[in-house]
Amino acid sequence: MPDETDLVTAARDVRARAYAPYSGFKVGAALRAADGSVHQGCNVENVAYPEGTCAEAGAIAAMVAAGQTRFTHVAVIADSPVPVTPCGGCRQKLFEFAAPEATITMATTSGEQITMAVAELLPGAFVKSQMDNV
Ligand code: THU
Repeated sequence: MPDETDLVTAARDVRARAYAPYSGFKVGAALRAADGSVHQGCNVENVAYPEGTCAEAGAIAAMVAAGQTRFTHVAVIADSPVPVTPCGGCRQKLFEFAAPEATITMATTSGEQITMAVAELLPGAFVKSQMDNV
């Protein structure tokens, strides 16, 4: 099991800057790209609720903007009673950029954490090969 302490710390740091006045639920995420660089994201809510974005989506956008399209590890953290798990949409977004062996560490601010394979989060993910007849 890789040591993801630094990624969890990066996720914890960016969580402090989350904009979540509607839910009050601040989330931070950090990705380690294939070149070793770290990219952070937090949730950004909107008064038009569906326009809000998740922490994972923000971290992916930061990584792609920095020129990286593969990550090996992702950490997500929230002040939740149990480690927060990404929503369905974020699972598909993460899957798009995950290295085959990529792992996710889901953490609480009180120190509980679980690590698993990103691939395990989304069995039956929609993949490009399903469009091969197009
Ligand atoms: N949220 C995330 O940013 N990531 C997750 O993994 C779970 C949920 C956000 C979306 C919304 O701003 C708030 O948490 C409550 O759902």
